[in-house]
Amino acid sequence: MPRYCYVNGRFLPHRDGAVHIEDRGYQFADGVYEVVTISNGKMVDEDPHMDRLERSLKELRMRMPMARNAMKLKVRELVRRNGLTDGLVYLQVTRGVAPRNHAFPSDKVQPAIVMTTKKMNFAKMKKFTDGVTVVSAPDIRWGRCDIKTVSLLPNCLAKQAATEAGAYEAWLVDKNGMVTEGSSSNAWIITKDGVLVTKKATNEILNGITRQTILDLAKQDGIPFEEREFTLEEAYEAKEAFVSSATSFVTPVVKIDDHVIGNGRPGSLSEKLLGTYQDYAAGRRSRAA
Ligand code: PDD
Repeated sequence: MPRYCYVNGRFLPHRDGAVHIEDRGYQFADGVYEVVTISNGKMVDEDPHMDRLERSLKELRMRMPMARNAMKLKVRELVRRNGLTDGLVYLQVTRGVAPRNHAFPSDKVQPAIVMTTKKMNFAKMKKFTDGVTVVSAPDIRWGRCDIKTVSLLPNCLAKQAATEAGAYEAWLVDKNGMVTEGSSSNAWIITKDGVLVTKKATNEILNGITRQTILDLAKQDGIPFEEREFTLEEAYEAKEAFVSSATSFVTPVVKIDDHVIGNGRPGSLSEKLLGTYQDYAAGRRSRAA
């Protein structure tokens, strides 16, 4: 079955999907994106992703390329055409095509939209059963990490450093020694007292949709949590650690730099939260209203 993509109003075979050389996303990284999990053929957290997309666009003074409902229908149509049951949809909106000039083009320039899908098998992921390792890297990003922009070069550099170190993710550390988040995920620790800790959603991190769902589910289940900063040293000493994202769900972390976390196996609360999140993604649980 051919894989389709969606480019500026058209469904095309994936290999034929292309954008113009003067698309501002290509020249200036002047665009935003979303990665949405597809589970059982449905978008997980469809509206929260649409909310965040609209917010990112608004913060950059861009407009939605189409109404939210129309966009949802396009995503669903692409998922249907690709016969996708489990995987992700990548959705990108840029400020459009215009002769190169740093300042914004005229309002008449249409925002450009691209969607692709990727098949994944969430049921059989080694990272969930074995856990992953993390290395630290300096957080050299800009002051608006709350916007989900495609401008990801510092994230790519950090992820490459992690990859070269044989690790799954890089945890970014700010000038004060505080862990902000991962290069493409949110960072969590569990203290010796069993308290779930993740950084408060400020302009220094992306407020992950998975992060928000985990907090909601933890609240429902009476698991104590704190949204606060933590140092790399506190993380080294933590009882458990994990990362969260649309593609990582809750992925246990078993080593940070040279420090083994717990007994070097996924921790029990992390495993419980992964199970809870998997139930949620499969539609067996719901988030608080
Ligand atoms: N990344 N922080 C950063 C810097 C991210 O890039 C991501 C997601 C997250 C987690 O957000 P969410 O829970 O909404 O996926 C946090 C996506 C998956 C990516 O770039 O592929």
